[in-house]
Amino acid sequence: MTDTNTNGDPQEAIDAQGERRREELDDRIFDHNAGDEQEGIPFVGAGPGNPRLLTVAGKELLEEADLVVHAGSLVNSELLDEYCAHAKLVNSVGKDLEELIPLMRDAYEDGENVVRLHSGDPAIYGAALEQMDALEHEGVPTYFVPGVTSAFAASATLRTQLTLNEVSNHVAFTRPQGKTLTPEEDHISDFVGMGDVTSCIYLGTHAVRDTMDRLLEDDHDPDTPVAVIYHASWPDEDVIVGSIGTIADKVEEAGYRASAMVVIGDAVTGAGYERSFLYGDWANRGSSGNSAENASEPEASDD
Ligand SMILES: C[S@@+](CC[C@H](N)C(=O)[O-])C[C@H]1O[C@@H](n2cnc3c(N)ncnc32)[C@H](O)[C@@H]1O
Repeated sequence: MTDTNTNGDPQEAIDAQGERRREELDDRIFDHNAGDEQEGIPFVGAGPGNPRLLTVAGKELLEEADLVVHAGSLVNSELLDEYCAHAKLVNSVGKDLEELIPLMRDAYEDGENVVRLHSGDPAIYGAALEQMDALEHEGVPTYFVPGVTSAFAASATLRTQLTLNEVSNHVAFTRPQGKTLTPEEDHISDFVGMGDVTSCIYLGTHAVRDTMDRLLEDDHDPDTPVAVIYHASWPDEDVIVGSIGTIADKVEEAGYRASAMVVIGDAVTGAGYERSFLYGDWANRGSSGNSAENASEPEASDD
């Protein structure tokens, strides 16, 4: 499960944990469900900002925490004030693994309740696993507690679905090229070109113009709907709606350079979809009792 044999190098710890994972599945995968109380340091999703969008499990863990290492400005300070009043708070921004891992390990080994608090959901652009691997390698168990990712707050704000029958069959959680992704690894144009994908762009507020320019260069329809939701679910949330051709000017005028979700695709408007099978033919066929297979048709029942 864990390994106490460490030389303190996070990359070596990550590699060792990866090797271990390749060889055998962790027993805890089968022993626990997401949301269960578990031993170790929980990596909790704070949700998009509004404290009401924190999960019950996350709230309980924060209320019991002695040390909360949080993701800085993307975690609403209201949430920290409300649920972490008695905890020591440490902002992880600007700290590397070499600093963060011993900080969390030592507190945990001293018997403190430690919570690592990520914005949204830790599994999306959270760099959580590398911290967990480094801790596990040092003998400190860890686990995920999911949160509401900002794309879901954005779709709720827009009063739409990210998947819509006959409009969008897929969702891409993606980010634009930059320091982390090369131009070849930027697939936004591919997703838009597929026509039935809603692209939710994280970490791309500063690059809205570049991204839209590339889409125009690739001959995508300039009227394709785009929404930029700044600080979704925060008190200062702002929604800018436009198209591939118009959104960059609007975002520049508003002055946002960070902390926004960029959503591209026809699902942004929620217009033009067809009723789903779930409340149509499939429902009727299922209730007629002549076909258990139809009644449990997974694609229909998940819509
Ligand atoms: C490092 S990523 C973390 C994403 C986070 N793990 C999540 O699930 O939402 C940060 C990016 O998430 C997006 N983001 C986070 N919180 C947001 C919010 N409340 N409203 C809009 N976008 C947000 C922004 O695109 C931001 O650049």
